[in-house]
Amino acid sequence: MGTRPIRRQLASAQIVEIAFEARPLLPSLAAQRLGTENQPVILGDVSTSEVSTQRQRLDILRSELRRHNDLYYLDSTPEIADADYDALVREAAAIEGAHPDWITPDSPTQKVSGTASATFSAVAHRAPMMSLDNAMDLNELQAWGDRVARGLGLFGSDARYVCELKIDGLAISLRYENGYFVQAATRGDGKVGEDVTANVATIDTVPKSLGPHAPSVLEVRGEIYMPLAAFDELNKRQSASGNRLYVNPRNSAAGSLRQKDATITGSRQLAMWSYQLGETVGAPEFADHLETLTWLSSLGFPINPEIRPLTDLASVFAYCQHWQNHRHELEYEIDGVVVKLDQLAMREQLGVTSKAPKWAIAFKFPPEEKTTKLNDILVSIGRTGRATPFAVLEPVFVGGSTVGMSTLHNQDQVRIKDVRPGDTVIVRKAGDVIPEVVGPVLSERPAGLPEWHFPTICPCPVASTLVRMEGEADTRCVESTCPFQRDARIIYFGSRGAMDIEFLGEQTVYQLSEKGLINDAADLYSLTADMLSGLEKYGEISIMNLLTAIEASKQRPLVKLMVALGIKHLGPAAAESFADTFGSLDAVMAAPAEALAGVDGIGMVIAESVSRWFAQDVNRDMVERLRSAGVRFDVVERSNLAPTLLGKAVVVTGSLEGFSREGAEEAIKARGGKSPGSVSKKTTAVVVGNEPGASKLTKAQDLGVPILDEAGFVHLLETGALPEIAPQ
Ligand code: IVH
Repeated sequence: MGTRPIRRQLASAQIVEIAFEARPLLPSLAAQRLGTENQPVILGDVSTSEVSTQRQRLDILRSELRRHNDLYYLDSTPEIADADYDALVREAAAIEGAHPDWITPDSPTQKVSGTASATFSAVAHRAPMMSLDNAMDLNELQAWGDRVARGLGLFGSDARYVCELKIDGLAISLRYENGYFVQAATRGDGKVGEDVTANVATIDTVPKSLGPHAPSVLEVRGEIYMPLAAFDELNKRQSASGNRLYVNPRNSAAGSLRQKDATITGSRQLAMWSYQLGETVGAPEFADHLETLTWLSSLGFPINPEIRPLTDLASVFAYCQHWQNHRHELEYEIDGVVVKLDQLAMREQLGVTSKAPKWAIAFKFPPEEKTTKLNDILVSIGRTGRATPFAVLEPVFVGGSTVGMSTLHNQDQVRIKDVRPGDTVIVRKAGDVIPEVVGPVLSERPAGLPEWHFPTICPCPVASTLVRMEGEADTRCVESTCPFQRDARIIYFGSRGAMDIEFLGEQTVYQLSEKGLINDAADLYSLTADMLSGLEKYGEISIMNLLTAIEASKQRPLVKLMVALGIKHLGPAAAESFADTFGSLDAVMAAPAEALAGVDGIGMVIAESVSRWFAQDVNRDMVERLRSAGVRFDVVERSNLAPTLLGKAVVVTGSLEGFSREGAEEAIKARGGKSPGSVSKKTTAVVVGNEPGASKLTKAQDLGVPILDEAGFVHLLETGALPEIAPQ
């Protein structure tokens, strides 16, 4: 890898193929090659108004920032998303930048936020716990690199960087005397924090004694966080007991740590990564940060395995981009990357500002939480009659896409979240995950805003009553003639996993159904160009496309046809078992429930549901109309490959040269194997391509599951055996 002209790349907004040469600090993952993905960057928006209005604006910003600081640090109940908070800080800093005489030492832009609360006793930090300056994009990171180089003068070119994940938790200072854990303190305002010793003592990954090589006094700083699994479990418990959900792992880590009853902290499964040395007496002298971390690790402190020493800014950029794109493969949340100068003498030379060291910078990822207006809550009716409430939002760009709607799941979820039309809400979209309304911003709720009530009437023209059965979470429309249910069934019939009818979008189905052209899925096959010509936005080409797609769907395999019928409990796996055993829809229809239940992998619930479905006249009638339209009932795709992987589970992670992701999974299944999405003790092997998921790889290593490269995978497919020596 050479040193590329980074600035030129930035100017063209295309950062391509910068690989960071990754030497793992501690035994961990092998070096990873980076992709070429690029993400939009967020830039601050600085207003330019009159001086007096600027002064007023600054005062408002300062008092808002102070209020949000208290909510965040003292009450652990923030009202705004981090990104919005950062935007306020940056706006205030921009005004102060233009009017340096307005800067006061107590401005929130100058101080580390947070104040020690009265609940816990105060601990004065012997050395201040500082904050970090932020870089919101690669240009700002480059500017920091330039400042570092300038500050170091002649030695600038010798600078080495250490890149660390910016763990989204809360800073902690741990004190050890004669090798024993004696005190833990939060950051507080940076000078005085809170004594949370009893709480931190319950955290497993915090070492309680350090063995014979410990110095007489040792202060270690790090981040307490809540792993995602613990967060999900906690929110499941909250939901089951009808309590409000925690907004994100960081807030719940803060709330869990600051419990008066430390046993509650102990039940929350918090964890810690250490990243810095504080005060020491009797410790070795270190020349660089890496050495320090390695030593801390030898004493038993948890050091994050993704920390990398890097020698040039291009590699630092690549590290930042890599983790921006792969952050969701971790088992905990990160909100950026911290870049630190490695050499401690150089750090001394650069020094600190009133708030943050000049030798480190936090590269912040684009936000995954934003606030927006909840315009309405509507209810959609699914093919089984389930009434699902969903949020109609003022469209907001978050987590890489614009979100305008988001499911609210069911009545209880709306109540637990207490969101009301007219509220400002926090919307979260993390990676590929479905966007979610996290909760309301209560301080912004208009006075007297009424609570939302689940409708009692189906929104469809039949306007039947919606019912919620005792003990069930879902509310349903139980009217079999409900046209909304009928439309949803037709949409499902044509969907990708079923008959896969391209061009049959939801809007097309609604139009066809409103005009009375279709009453069920079988009617699709009677559509003619004439009938379609009256549809809105339907020209000749669209009509031809749709008719061709409908015609093509007649040849779909039996598995897809069975799924498309939408029989309760009958998913693709069960449909595949039926197709393999019976070979045609007629044979399935003819089989009594007992025979259906005799099929491998089929239980009585599915068998009876299938029997019941075919026993109903309306369904029989539709099946017969499908038959007369020419839909094939007997297309069974059998694999003629040797079943080399029967009973074996092979997990694929990262991209392979000779297979697409789906292709690799199909190759495994075609040989009788399974290709689950996660690694367990039962996994036969993990196939690792380029840019593998870190958690899968780590899990495979932890569990001793063989790891194969692509050649090993091909060997496994052909022979069913692992290569002699699996490359680790
Ligand atoms: S170093 C003087 N390293 O980010 C430098 N901080 O926004 C002290 N954080 O207060 C911080 N991961 O709570 C450092 N690998 C990491 C970090 C990290 C998370 C937090 C920490 C800090 C805040 C600054």
